Amino acid sequence: MRFSPAFFRGGSECETPGRARNGTRGSAATALLLLVSLIVFVGITVYLFASGFYAPPPPITSVGSQIDHQYNLTLYATGIAFVLAQLGLGWAAFRFRDRGKPARFTRGNKALEITWVLITATVFLGLGVLASKSWAETRFTKAKPGAIQVEVTEQQFAYNFRYPGPDGKFGRLDPALVSAPTGNPLGIDPNDPAGRDDVVMSTLTVPVNHPVELMIRSQDVIHNFFVRELRLQQDAVPGMVVPLHFTPNRIGRYYIVCTQLCGMNHNQMHSFLNVVSEAEFQKTMAKAEAR
Ligand code: CUA
Repeated sequence: MRFSPAFFRGGSECETPGRARNGTRGSAATALLLLVSLIVFVGITVYLFASGFYAPPPPITSVGSQIDHQYNLTLYATGIAFVLAQLGLGWAAFRFRDRGKPARFTRGNKALEITWVLITATVFLGLGVLASKSWAETRFTKAKPGAIQVEVTEQQFAYNFRYPGPDGKFGRLDPALVSAPTGNPLGIDPNDPAGRDDVVMSTLTVPVNHPVELMIRSQDVIHNFFVRELRLQQDAVPGMVVPLHFTPNRIGRYYIVCTQLCGMNHNQMHSFLNVVSEAEFQKTMAKAEAR
């Protein structure tokens, strides 16, 4: 078959004999059904988001509030685009439905397309620039001086939290000494005096309104440290020590979960973040030291 220029121009002679015999030409029913379906679909989607059925628990850090604000901005921008695009699709399907006449060919509208791309790029880059501040605050800046340091070691399928003890120094670790059954899951070297007062706990306890710096490690595969209320999620990667810092501002007990599929019992791998008063924190530490 040879294509003539007229073929590409489309239009006039493109009618197919099969459709000409079809009695449904020009019917608005199908197009109307699509339009109504899209309106219902958009309505349900917007309702599910606006109702707050699946809203996360309130954040417990000021950075968490900033992240929520940023998330909402993104949701509004993409939400408006979603509603306009779906309703536009419905309108176009109805407006340009088969009316029993030959189709009209169009080469598009360059000005409209450029405007479209510029608006999208501006919104996309703008949101990125706005978000960089709250994101960078936990990733690119150091923890505040005086932050409580806790080493987080993840393994199949548990968390261990190590505090440096009264001397403020973590003892040396030796992988050859790792032995959970004898009470040394982290392999703390008993010959290092700095390690003798180290405290290891299976839950993370920190005082309220006090900066905390975590050093996240893994003993085997890739795990994760995720607390919804902190709005923080960080992978634990074997061979790396990843710092993460935050200042919790509300007393409570929050779930720490592993969000990396790390083996058979991944779904049971969790712990707790206990945010307590300063006095309660001192009491917990003293009790752990005594043990
Ligand atoms: Cu560790 Cu999933």
